[in-house]
Amino acid sequence: MNRIAELFGIKYPIIQGGMVWVSGAKLAAAVSNAGGLGLIGAGSMKPDLLEAHIKKARTLTSKPFGVNIPIFSKYAEKQVEVALDNNVDIFFMSAGSPKKFTNYLKEKGKTVVHVTSTPQLAYKCEQAGVDAVVVEGFEAGGHNGRDELTSFVLIPQAVDLVNIPVIAAGGIADGRGIAAAVMLGAEGVQIGTLFAASKESSAHINYKNAILNASSCDTVLALKDIIPVRLIKNKLTEEISILEKKCAKKEEILKLLGNNPAKEAIFEGKLDMGEIEVGQCCAMVKKIEDVNNIIEKLIKEFNFIIKNCKNF
Ligand SMILES: Cc1cc2nc3c(=O)[nH]c(=O)nc-3n(C[C@H](O)[C@H](O)[C@H](O)COP(=O)(O)O)c2cc1C
Repeated sequence: MNRIAELFGIKYPIIQGGMVWVSGAKLAAAVSNAGGLGLIGAGSMKPDLLEAHIKKARTLTSKPFGVNIPIFSKYAEKQVEVALDNNVDIFFMSAGSPKKFTNYLKEKGKTVVHVTSTPQLAYKCEQAGVDAVVVEGFEAGGHNGRDELTSFVLIPQAVDLVNIPVIAAGGIADGRGIAAAVMLGAEGVQIGTLFAASKESSAHINYKNAILNASSCDTVLALKDIIPVRLIKNKLTEEISILEKKCAKKEEILKLLGNNPAKEAIFEGKLDMGEIEVGQCCAMVKKIEDVNNIIEKLIKEFNFIIKNCKNF
């Protein structure tokens, strides 16, 4: 049996990445009901809202689901406690050291996965005692590693370095992507952008349409020296780039971002000066579909590729 499917008790080793302003109870439960693993993205939730989403998800699915908690958030500790109090068993931690929560969560008998962007960091996660690691390539939407390792080189190098199962993320938007990740040694995939445009995603329709209308070269890795994030190019990314060329101070650039640029773009649909977090695979997303259709199609495409790949 596939180690990732076994670890989480799911049918397909397809994980819906935790996504700020996108992955609430509705999306996470839909993915879990369709046989994958849904993750509630705690990054945009205060602890009480996270609790409400966990409770809501339980009413929408009886299947396993998890939470994604970005460690740099000022609420991370409280979010961990809320998830523990509400008997969440699966924790996907990101954006911080795997040493911070892994022991604590493992002592409580939880399944812990850490998201990382280099093979060396994947190894550190394994040393810290996580059950599996997500390696996220440079193609991915949202916050990103500085080292620019694309999935094609990251996956095999991580697989060679660790014994725990590797989940590939970044650039996967169809069954071909899953098949490629599996060929490179991944035992599961984490998908963001494709699910961000789904019917059950809580993102604003303007954001979903921005994904559908984007072409292959429309994203950029912005804020590389401050907090790298892959975004669809817009007025904001243009203004950031102008300031960077002028060697503007970090504070000046941060001022441009305003209060909550990701919320503005993703949740409120204000696309001019918000952060439109989207991966390079955006051009492969052609319509807003329900999660069930998306997962069925992914599996069908994957099986077709695997059956026909002997022609090389
Ligand atoms: C809108 C958006 C928000 C995201 N927010 C988070 C987050 O809160 N925590 C996290 O670990 N990753 C986050 N990610 C990354 C995804 O979980 C996933 O790893 C990534 O999107 C995979 O790459 P793909 O977009 O090419 O599928 C986000 C991605 C997107 C597109």
